[in-house]
Amino acid sequence: MGPVSIGNSNYIIELLRLSQTLMLVKNFHWIVIEDSEKKTKLVENLLKESTIKYTHLNVKTNKAKHSTASGVEQRNLALDWLRKYLQTPEGAPGVVFFMDDDNTYSLKVFEEMRKVKRVGVWPVGIVGGMRVERPLVTDGKVSGFSALWKPYRPFPLDMAGFAINATLFLDYPEAKFSRKVQSGFQESEILKYFATVKDLEPLADNCTKVYVWHTRTQKMAILNPKKLKHPPINDDHIEV
Ligand SMILES: *[C@@H]1O[C@H](CO)[C@@H](O)[C@H](O)[C@H]1NC(C)=O
Repeated sequence: MGPVSIGNSNYIIELLRLSQTLMLVKNFHWIVIEDSEKKTKLVENLLKESTIKYTHLNVKTNKAKHSTASGVEQRNLALDWLRKYLQTPEGAPGVVFFMDDDNTYSLKVFEEMRKVKRVGVWPVGIVGGMRVERPLVTDGKVSGFSALWKPYRPFPLDMAGFAINATLFLDYPEAKFSRKVQSGFQESEILKYFATVKDLEPLADNCTKVYVWHTRTQKMAILNPKKLKHPPINDDHIEV
Protein backbone atom coordinates (compact mmCIF):
# COMPACT_ATOMS: atom_id res chain seq x y z
CA MET A 1 0.00 0.00 0.00
CA GLY A 2 1.25 3.44 -0.86
CA PRO A 3 0.49 6.58 1.08
CA VAL A 4 -3.08 7.83 1.16
CA SER A 5 -4.05 11.41 1.63
CA ILE A 6 -6.46 12.20 4.45
CA GLY A 7 -9.39 14.50 3.86
CA ASN A 8 -8.32 17.46 1.77
CA SER A 9 -4.72 17.32 2.92
CA ASN A 10 -2.08 16.27 0.43
CA TYR A 11 0.80 16.43 2.87
CA ILE A 12 1.53 12.72 2.74
CA ILE A 13 1.80 12.83 -1.05
CA GLU A 14 4.13 15.82 -0.79
CA LEU A 15 6.17 13.92 1.74
CA LEU A 16 6.43 10.91 -0.57
CA ARG A 17 7.59 13.14 -3.41
CA LEU A 18 10.18 14.73 -1.15
CA SER A 19 11.35 11.41 0.30
CA GLN A 20 11.97 10.06 -3.18
CA THR A 21 14.24 13.00 -3.93
CA LEU A 22 16.04 12.57 -0.62
CA MET A 23 16.69 8.87 -1.26
CA LEU A 24 19.14 10.02 -3.93
CA VAL A 25 21.15 12.27 -1.60
CA LYS A 26 24.35 10.79 -0.17
CA ASN A 27 25.31 11.20 3.50
CA PHE A 28 21.97 12.57 4.45
CA HIS A 29 20.06 12.47 7.73
CA TRP A 30 16.41 13.52 7.61
CA ILE A 31 14.86 14.86 10.81
CA VAL A 32 11.10 14.77 10.28
CA ILE A 33 8.94 16.59 12.81
CA GLU A 34 5.21 16.03 12.68
CA ASP A 35 2.88 18.74 13.94
CA SER A 36 0.75 16.30 15.93
CA GLU A 37 0.07 14.91 19.42
CA LYS A 38 1.38 11.54 18.31
CA LYS A 39 3.46 10.23 15.45
CA THR A 40 1.17 9.02 12.70
CA LYS A 41 1.41 5.54 11.17
CA LEU A 42 1.18 7.12 7.74
CA VAL A 43 4.41 9.06 8.14
CA GLU A 44 6.09 6.25 10.08
CA ASN A 45 5.40 3.77 7.26
CA LEU A 46 6.55 6.20 4.61
CA LEU A 47 9.86 6.67 6.41
CA LYS A 48 10.33 2.93 7.03
CA GLU A 49 9.78 2.19 3.37
CA SER A 50 12.32 4.78 2.31
CA THR A 51 16.06 4.09 2.24
CA ILE A 52 16.82 7.35 4.06
CA LYS A 53 18.53 7.62 7.43
CA TYR A 54 15.91 9.44 9.47
CA THR A 55 14.76 10.57 12.89
CA HIS A 56 11.02 10.88 13.40
CA LEU A 57 9.76 13.24 16.12
CA ASN A 58 6.54 15.10 16.83
CA VAL A 59 5.34 18.22 18.59
CA LYS A 60 1.95 19.85 18.34
CA THR A 61 1.88 23.58 17.59
CA ASN A 62 0.63 25.50 20.60
CA LYS A 63 -2.38 27.25 19.07
CA ALA A 64 -3.10 29.10 22.32
CA LYS A 65 -0.18 31.39 21.68
CA HIS A 66 -1.54 33.91 19.22
CA SER A 67 0.94 33.95 16.39
CA THR A 68 1.03 33.43 12.65
CA ALA A 69 4.46 31.83 12.79
CA SER A 70 4.49 28.25 11.58
CA GLY A 71 6.96 25.48 12.22
CA VAL A 72 8.57 27.21 15.21
CA GLU A 73 8.09 24.41 17.78
CA GLN A 74 8.89 21.78 15.16
CA ARG A 75 12.16 23.35 13.99
CA ASN A 76 13.23 24.09 17.56
CA LEU A 77 12.61 20.47 18.54
CA ALA A 78 14.81 19.40 15.63
CA LEU A 79 17.54 21.75 16.84
CA ASP A 80 17.33 20.35 20.39
CA TRP A 81 17.68 16.85 18.98
CA LEU A 82 20.58 17.94 16.74
CA ARG A 83 22.55 19.51 19.59
CA LYS A 84 22.32 16.29 21.62
CA TYR A 85 23.18 14.15 18.61
CA LEU A 86 26.24 16.22 17.71
CA GLN A 87 27.65 15.52 21.17
CA THR A 88 27.36 11.74 20.81
CA PRO A 89 30.14 9.62 19.21
CA GLU A 90 27.87 9.23 16.17
CA GLY A 91 27.52 12.98 15.67
CA ALA A 92 29.42 13.90 12.50
CA PRO A 93 30.08 17.34 11.03
CA GLY A 94 27.37 18.46 8.67
CA VAL A 95 25.18 21.20 7.33
CA VAL A 96 21.64 22.03 8.44
CA PHE A 97 18.97 22.83 5.86
CA PHE A 98 15.35 23.53 6.79
CA MET A 99 13.00 21.88 4.30
CA ASP A 100 9.27 22.03 3.72
CA ASP A 101 7.22 19.22 2.26
CA ASP A 102 5.77 21.42 -0.47
CA ASN A 103 9.02 22.73 -1.97
CA THR A 104 10.84 21.15 -4.90
CA TYR A 105 14.55 20.53 -4.48
CA SER A 106 17.03 19.76 -7.22
CA LEU A 107 19.74 17.32 -6.17
CA LYS A 108 22.16 20.12 -7.03
CA VAL A 109 21.15 22.16 -3.98
CA PHE A 110 22.44 19.36 -1.74
CA GLU A 111 25.76 19.34 -3.57
CA GLU A 112 26.05 23.12 -3.23
CA MET A 113 25.45 23.06 0.51
CA ARG A 114 28.37 20.68 1.07
CA LYS A 115 30.57 23.76 0.43
CA VAL A 116 29.11 25.71 3.37
CA LYS A 117 31.66 26.89 5.92
CA ARG A 118 29.31 28.97 8.10
CA VAL A 119 26.17 30.09 6.24
CA GLY A 120 25.61 29.50 2.52
CA VAL A 121 22.90 31.20 0.46
CA TRP A 122 21.35 30.75 -3.02
CA PRO A 123 18.30 31.83 -5.06
CA VAL A 124 14.80 30.40 -4.56
CA GLY A 125 12.36 30.18 -7.47
CA ILE A 126 8.66 31.18 -7.45
CA VAL A 127 8.55 32.85 -4.05
CA GLY A 128 7.32 36.12 -2.60
CA GLY A 129 5.42 36.97 -5.80
CA MET A 130 8.63 36.74 -7.85
CA ARG A 131 10.05 34.35 -10.43
CA VAL A 132 13.17 34.27 -8.32
CA GLU A 133 14.20 35.80 -5.01
CA ARG A 134 17.97 35.92 -4.62
CA PRO A 135 20.99 37.41 -2.95
CA LEU A 136 22.85 39.90 -5.15
CA VAL A 137 26.55 39.21 -5.47
CA THR A 138 29.37 41.66 -6.18
CA ASP A 139 32.96 40.41 -6.47
CA GLY A 140 31.99 37.09 -4.94
CA LYS A 141 30.33 38.70 -1.87
CA VAL A 142 26.66 39.20 -1.00
CA SER A 143 25.98 42.90 -1.55
CA GLY A 144 22.18 42.95 -1.20
CA PHE A 145 19.02 41.08 -2.07
CA SER A 146 16.45 41.03 -4.81
CA ALA A 147 13.23 40.52 -2.82
CA LEU A 148 9.83 42.20 -3.06
CA TRP A 149 8.13 40.76 -0.01
CA LYS A 150 9.13 42.67 3.13
CA PRO A 151 12.49 43.70 1.62
CA TYR A 152 13.31 45.52 4.88
CA ARG A 153 13.87 42.19 6.65
CA PRO A 154 17.47 41.91 7.97
CA PHE A 155 17.88 38.78 5.80
CA PRO A 156 15.20 38.85 3.06
CA LEU A 157 15.64 35.15 2.34
CA ASP A 158 13.32 32.18 2.20
CA MET A 159 13.87 29.20 4.50
CA ALA A 160 14.84 27.18 1.41
CA GLY A 161 17.54 29.69 0.44
CA PHE A 162 20.23 28.99 3.02
CA ALA A 163 22.04 26.29 5.01
CA ILE A 164 24.04 26.52 8.23
CA ASN A 165 27.09 24.57 9.38
CA ALA A 166 25.80 22.22 12.09
CA THR A 167 28.63 22.94 14.52
CA LEU A 168 27.40 26.54 14.82
CA PHE A 169 24.39 25.22 16.73
CA LEU A 170 26.80 24.01 19.41
CA ASP A 171 28.77 27.27 19.33
CA TYR A 172 25.52 29.24 19.79
CA PRO A 173 23.37 27.11 22.11
CA GLU A 174 20.80 29.92 22.43
CA ALA A 175 20.08 30.04 18.68
CA LYS A 176 16.48 29.11 17.93
CA PHE A 177 13.31 30.18 16.16
CA SER A 178 10.83 32.43 17.94
CA ARG A 179 7.05 32.76 18.12
CA LYS A 180 7.50 36.44 18.92
CA VAL A 181 8.56 37.58 15.46
CA GLN A 182 6.14 38.44 12.68
CA SER A 183 5.73 36.25 9.62
CA GLY A 184 8.67 36.33 7.25
CA PHE A 185 11.15 37.08 10.01
CA GLN A 186 11.94 33.51 11.11
CA GLU A 187 14.83 33.28 8.67
CA SER A 188 16.32 36.52 10.01
CA GLU A 189 15.66 35.34 13.56
CA ILE A 190 17.87 32.27 13.22
CA LEU A 191 20.49 33.78 10.90
CA LYS A 192 21.20 36.74 13.20
CA TYR A 193 23.04 34.39 15.57
CA PHE A 194 25.52 33.23 12.94
CA ALA A 195 26.23 35.85 10.33
CA THR A 196 25.91 39.36 9.04
CA VAL A 197 25.03 39.92 5.39
CA LYS A 198 28.67 40.30 4.38
CA ASP A 199 29.57 36.91 5.91
CA LEU A 200 27.04 35.00 3.79
CA GLU A 201 28.66 32.58 1.33
CA PRO A 202 27.04 32.89 -2.11
CA LEU A 203 26.60 29.47 -3.73
CA ALA A 204 24.93 28.22 -6.94
CA ASP A 205 27.38 30.05 -9.22
CA ASN A 206 27.36 33.32 -7.30
CA CYS A 207 23.57 33.05 -6.87
CA THR A 208 22.79 32.90 -10.58
CA LYS A 209 21.33 29.35 -10.58
CA VAL A 210 17.99 28.19 -9.20
CA TYR A 211 18.05 24.75 -7.55
CA VAL A 212 15.03 25.05 -5.25
CA TRP A 213 11.44 26.17 -5.90
CA HIS A 214 8.64 27.15 -3.62
CA THR A 215 6.04 24.93 -5.30
CA ARG A 216 3.13 25.41 -2.95
CA THR A 217 0.20 23.15 -3.75
CA GLN A 218 -2.12 26.12 -3.53
CA LYS A 219 -2.27 28.45 -6.52
CA MET A 220 0.77 30.69 -6.79
CA ALA A 221 0.47 34.05 -8.45
CA ILE A 222 3.48 35.55 -10.17
CA LEU A 223 3.10 39.31 -10.17
CA ASN A 224 3.67 41.20 -13.38
CA PRO A 225 6.91 43.09 -12.74
CA LYS A 226 5.92 45.82 -15.23
CA LYS A 227 2.91 46.70 -13.09
CA LEU A 228 4.84 47.02 -9.84
CA LYS A 229 5.75 50.31 -8.25
CA HIS A 230 9.16 48.94 -7.33
CA PRO A 231 9.99 46.46 -10.08
CA PRO A 232 12.50 43.77 -9.15
CA ILE A 233 16.05 43.82 -10.41
CA ASN A 234 16.11 42.35 -13.90
CA ASP A 235 16.42 38.59 -13.65
CA ASP A 236 15.41 37.57 -17.16
CA HIS A 237 18.84 35.95 -17.60
CA ILE A 238 18.12 33.53 -14.77
CA GLU A 239 16.39 30.32 -15.76
CA VAL A 240 13.65 29.41 -13.26
C1 LIG B 1 32.08 34.26 -8.19
O1 LIG B 1 32.57 35.53 -8.43
C2 LIG B 1 33.95 35.72 -8.08
C3 LIG B 1 34.28 37.18 -8.25
O2 LIG B 1 33.85 37.69 -9.46
C4 LIG B 1 34.80 34.80 -8.93
O3 LIG B 1 36.16 34.93 -8.58
C5 LIG B 1 34.35 33.36 -8.70
O4 LIG B 1 35.07 32.50 -9.55
C6 LIG B 1 32.86 33.20 -8.96
N1 LIG B 1 32.46 31.89 -8.56
C7 LIG B 1 31.77 31.08 -9.36
C8 LIG B 1 31.47 29.73 -8.82
O5 LIG B 1 31.38 31.40 -10.47
